[in-house]
Amino acid sequence: MNQLSYVFAVTLLLVAAWCTWRYYDLKRSLRQVEQFMRDPQTPPPHSNEIDALIGVIESRRLAFNMEIKALQTENERLATVLEQLTDGVLIANADGRVQFANPAAGKLFGTDEPTHQSVAQVVRSHQLIEAWKRCQQTRQIQIEAVEIPTRRQHLQIIVIPDMHEGGSLILVQDLTQVRKLETVRRDFISNVSHELRTPLASLKALTETLQGGALADPEAGPRFLDRIHTEVDALTQMTQELLDLSRIESGQVQLNFESISPRKLLHASADRMKAQVERANLKLDVLCADGLPDIRADKGRLEQVLVNLIHNAVKFTKPGGRITLGAEAVPGGVRCAVQDTGIGIPSESLSRIFERFYRVDSSRTGSGTGLGLSISKHIVEAHGGKIWAESDEGRGSAFFFKVPAA
Ligand SMILES: Nc1ncnc2c1ncn2[C@@H]1O[C@H](COP(=O)(O)OP(=O)(O)OP(=O)(O)O)[C@@H](O)[C@H]1O
Ligand SMILES: [Mg+2]
Repeated sequence: MNQLSYVFAVTLLLVAAWCTWRYYDLKRSLRQVEQFMRDPQTPPPHSNEIDALIGVIESRRLAFNMEIKALQTENERLATVLEQLTDGVLIANADGRVQFANPAAGKLFGTDEPTHQSVAQVVRSHQLIEAWKRCQQTRQIQIEAVEIPTRRQHLQIIVIPDMHEGGSLILVQDLTQVRKLETVRRDFISNVSHELRTPLASLKALTETLQGGALADPEAGPRFLDRIHTEVDALTQMTQELLDLSRIESGQVQLNFESISPRKLLHASADRMKAQVERANLKLDVLCADGLPDIRADKGRLEQVLVNLIHNAVKFTKPGGRITLGAEAVPGGVRCAVQDTGIGIPSESLSRIFERFYRVDSSRTGSGTGLGLSISKHIVEAHGGKIWAESDEGRGSAFFFKVPAA
């Protein structure tokens, strides 16, 4: 019995020693695993039990790395989009501090570094700040459009509540160009209807007079018919000009570029206007420098520009005056000029005469809808050129346009 107890005690001791050894071995391996996880450069521990664990950890680590890489790519893509976006994006926290702003947001609000400033400091518009506050209170999307007069800007902001952080996302859109186009369109329609109303009212009055008995009058009858004829001509000219303008503006006019001599172009336009110039008792000269390079132009269209300018010179120059056409070489092309000794243009109108329907003072002259210069400007710009005017009021005007050499 004693011997049996002795064997049992020795076995127990051996088992205890083996367990202790296993325990410390496992603990050491786990420490190595811990080290390996902290620094994947250290060699992984080797033991049968741990190998399986290391395998799992390694595969998780690789999957994790791939996920991080995918997230980084996604992040970079998003950052590029936000960087290039023309709309502004601001992210503000619940206290109204800007946490993120893309470059467009800074540009639209005229602030260099919006991040860390308050929303109020960045947007600087009472209405926009109110919209942001409303969104914070109601947690509902708010849309607000304002005009910022100091910067001549029309901005629209959309404030979207951020459900997780209690803050908000603010999108800013620049509507300045859209509003400008709306105004141009509105002005255009009201100008056209105004311009149509006058000749139509005259036509109605003239026909009523004829119906009222003037038709039978051998002297007044033909006179009224003549006036009807003039009004119809004016209406026809206006509709033709409007059609031209809309075609040129919408890019429907195909320009046929060719290489042409500026001298030939000036003489061709002068010849076309010769009769009108003589009838107005004016003199027309063409002064063209020698050795000018050819220009790249649509002959018919550029001739139309010169005819428009000469026609204006004839209209706005008193009998006995002089009109001079000229051309000279300038860097990159040729500059053509139409100068007159007429009534001139006040300096405050010089920048506006190329607008549609703009006339300095309709009482100064007879016919004209104010479309000629607008059409000319579009034609010159379609040639890659530039048109401008100079004038000394009371002494004359000079119109210049520059077009590229062939
Ligand atoms: N040579 C000029 N001298 C003085 N004023 C001019 C001259 N050319 C243009 N203007 C002014 O600029 C305005 C605009 O000219 P524009 O050619 O566009 O229109 P218009 O001649 O009045 O009409 P349209 O050319 O459509 O028949 C004219 O109404 C006139 O007031
Ligand atoms: Mg004109």
